Amino acid sequence: MLSITQSSEKVVHAGGMQNTDSEDREQAALVDYPRPPEPSSKKEPEVKQPIDKTAVQPSPSTKPSIKPASTAGTETAKPRASSKPSSTKKPEQKEKKLVAFTFDDGPDSRYTAAILDILKEKGVKATFFVVGQQVEKEPEMLKRIVDEGHAVGNHTMNHKQLPKLTDKQMKQEIDGADKLIENVIGYKPTMVRAPYGAVSDALKTYMKNENRLLVGWNVDTRDWAGTSVADMRSMIKEKTKPGAIILMHSFGGKNIKHTVEMLPGAIDDLIKMGYTFVTADQLASYEEAE
Ligand code: NI
Repeated sequence: MLSITQSSEKVVHAGGMQNTDSEDREQAALVDYPRPPEPSSKKEPEVKQPIDKTAVQPSPSTKPSIKPASTAGTETAKPRASSKPSSTKKPEQKEKKLVAFTFDDGPDSRYTAAILDILKEKGVKATFFVVGQQVEKEPEMLKRIVDEGHAVGNHTMNHKQLPKLTDKQMKQEIDGADKLIENVIGYKPTMVRAPYGAVSDALKTYMKNENRLLVGWNVDTRDWAGTSVADMRSMIKEKTKPGAIILMHSFGGKNIKHTVEMLPGAIDDLIKMGYTFVTADQLASYEEAE
């Protein structure tokens, strides 16, 4: 199976849930899963993480952080059975500038709907990592995501930090969301994204055994934290490299309105820069074909 690794950037997100104005009371009420404290800094986190031999380490920013999990920690593992033989390598794919937009924590009826409208207008396909709690409340919006050609991934049942749970609880968090998603769209998603990017060895092993695709990101808009439209747009422009996975949210408080506002411009920027939008699993397939 494939694993899209976590970024070396600080991956905690979605801490700003303490909105009190009336516009957001409804939103805040819907988000009852816990959020960890906001990271203390917004500066470029170039801090090197200690090497974890069991983890697939992210590559430098010029290279997307996707590797087959079977090669984690070793460069000698054989390709998956489904891999194309190396003789069919497609250089044009290698040169193609691909980018994946990902939207976490929905679906909801406000921002997810607005984001879908924009993606449709721009002809862009994206990936939505949905939370079971929200799928229960907004099954029709999940249906719409799939009907409009986007990819769906599992973002757990209750958006908990999986490494803090027992193995059994961790599996319940993933399996519970799988069931809800499957009830709505008819199949279990292959992709999984851990809340807060918090990944344990137990989770990696579980994903590998289940042949799931664990998806991280390497460009973090910090949209949940109230980053301005202009800052997010210029950051995406600056940090996106071929193969980038960009983290945004389609639910999680009033700041997501900035995401909606920023999106058309960011799409235009990346198209001008020669990027093609793909889903996160498509990005993994391209990587595998190399
Ligand atoms: Ni999340």
